[in-house]
Amino acid sequence: MTLAPSVLAADFGRLEAHAREAIDAGADWLHIDVMDGHFVPNISFGVPVMRGLRALADETDTPFDVHLMIEEPDRYLEDFAEAGASVITVHQEACPHLHRTVQAIHALGCRAGVAVNPATPLVMLEDVLGDLDLVLVMSVNPGFGGQSFIPGSTDKVRRLRQMTSGAQTAGAGRPLIEVDGGVSPDNARALLDAGADVFVAGSAVFRGDVAENVAAFRRAEMR
Ligand code: DX5
Ligand code: ZN
Repeated sequence: MTLAPSVLAADFGRLEAHAREAIDAGADWLHIDVMDGHFVPNISFGVPVMRGLRALADETDTPFDVHLMIEEPDRYLEDFAEAGASVITVHQEACPHLHRTVQAIHALGCRAGVAVNPATPLVMLEDVLGDLDLVLVMSVNPGFGGQSFIPGSTDKVRRLRQMTSGAQTAGAGRPLIEVDGGVSPDNARALLDAGADVFVAGSAVFRGDVAENVAAFRRAEMR
């Protein structure tokens, strides 16, 4: 299980320290939720905030997992790549020329991900799947942290894993499967069994004791 805490749920008044707690506890990636108030009904933060976390990411060798919930993401890909993104994920629903956008992400030296909203069928990714390093299954409607996990998402992960099972090894042919929204130690085991690789968690990591929360995910993995 790759655990990617979403810093959207961190205390912005002490963002670096709070993110560091998650990394020290064993988190693998830092998930960066960028919202523009157009594609989703909320505004979060952008490149400058990510730059503020750059020293921590470099020092701890922690990849930035950038989730762009914005319209016209092509306009900003270069900025996020320069700010240190390892993975850049765009939304299928925001990209009329998705294939071109994926190529642009690769040309910047980043891994390319595509996210699908709960109402978007997986078939929308069929013709681009072979070019992707990651598929992000949204298990809530994007825009806010702290929402309830939509139960049908586990089956969607399972169906996606079947679609991608031609190539068996993640990273070498098969795209990683990431799940985002309402993910907690309570649903993590079922998601692992369904085939998820990367677990985004905001509230379930940053609300309360961060070290204990990360440990709870690791225990769920052992179950
Ligand atoms: C939702 C964001 C998520 C969010 C997850 O729009 O993409 O990454 O931060 O937060 P939780 O884990 O609290 O649902
Ligand atoms: Zn996200």
